[in-house]
Amino acid sequence: MRVKKAIIPAAGLGTRFLPATKAQPKEMLPILDVPTLQIIVEEAVNSGITDILIITGRNKHSIENHFDRNIELEMVLENNKKFELLDEIKKSSNLANIYYFRQSIPLGLGNAIGCGRSFVGNEPFAVLLGDDIVYSDKPATKQLIDAFEKHNSSILGVQKVPIEDINKYGSIDGDFLENRTYKVKSTVEKPNPEDAPSNVAILGRYIITPKIFDILDKQKPGVGGEIQLTDALNTLADLEDVYAYEFEGDRYDVGSKLGFLKATIRAGLLKEDIREEFIEHLKDIVENEK
Ligand code: G1P
Repeated sequence: MRVKKAIIPAAGLGTRFLPATKAQPKEMLPILDVPTLQIIVEEAVNSGITDILIITGRNKHSIENHFDRNIELEMVLENNKKFELLDEIKKSSNLANIYYFRQSIPLGLGNAIGCGRSFVGNEPFAVLLGDDIVYSDKPATKQLIDAFEKHNSSILGVQKVPIEDINKYGSIDGDFLENRTYKVKSTVEKPNPEDAPSNVAILGRYIITPKIFDILDKQKPGVGGEIQLTDALNTLADLEDVYAYEFEGDRYDVGSKLGFLKATIRAGLLKEDIREEFIEHLKDIVENEK
């Protein structure tokens, strides 16, 4: 069955970015000129996803506005003959069929995904977490969809991280097969490095079979008192085959200040019109330790 639907959780409070996120959703913070959430939605669309459910919460109205049309702005840009910008802002309202579900209490990632049950129905679906942005030739989600089509089983997007960082992630215990693929035996959410089954971390991309919803319905709170998707995936691995795929690409944790800055620099270097001057500036501030 083809993967056509995705869930993108966007209900978090963004406390790591206060005060910027006091009155605006962290998902709307831009990497240069594109909100992080649009980057994620574009990855999904470029992977063949047509229908996206965004899990929102209080104070997230600007997300809906962003993916909607803004007729007044369109008229002004049209009258001023700013056609490139006009295309740009029309694009963000035309990316996919986007639906919203407002999660009233943030009870954790597992709970957020569980909110998507009626949207997903009985199909495999993708999950993309907004804190992880991946620069790659083939979109990370597309790489996982290709792996799903091969195995017809849930696929967790993973990469190796330094073992001292594994306590920020879900860690997998699995057998390496071939071609960047592992057969998953179990998963542990945010283990201490000394207890972690491996340094292979789940990095914000998943293809999951709908069986997960029955498991999430009964899932008890785990680490941090939250309903953890990782715990539910662990149960899923007991019931059916689950694989992990080490996706190609440079991944940035834009939920952290350093990751956000690194992604912003990367985006600046990719912009033809500012690239040269930007490199000169970077050299200058590094060499002269400004
Ligand atoms: C979530 C997941 C974790 C995963 C991580 C990827 O954690 O619970 O398993 O490794 O995203 O970024 P969070 O960073 O939301 O606490």
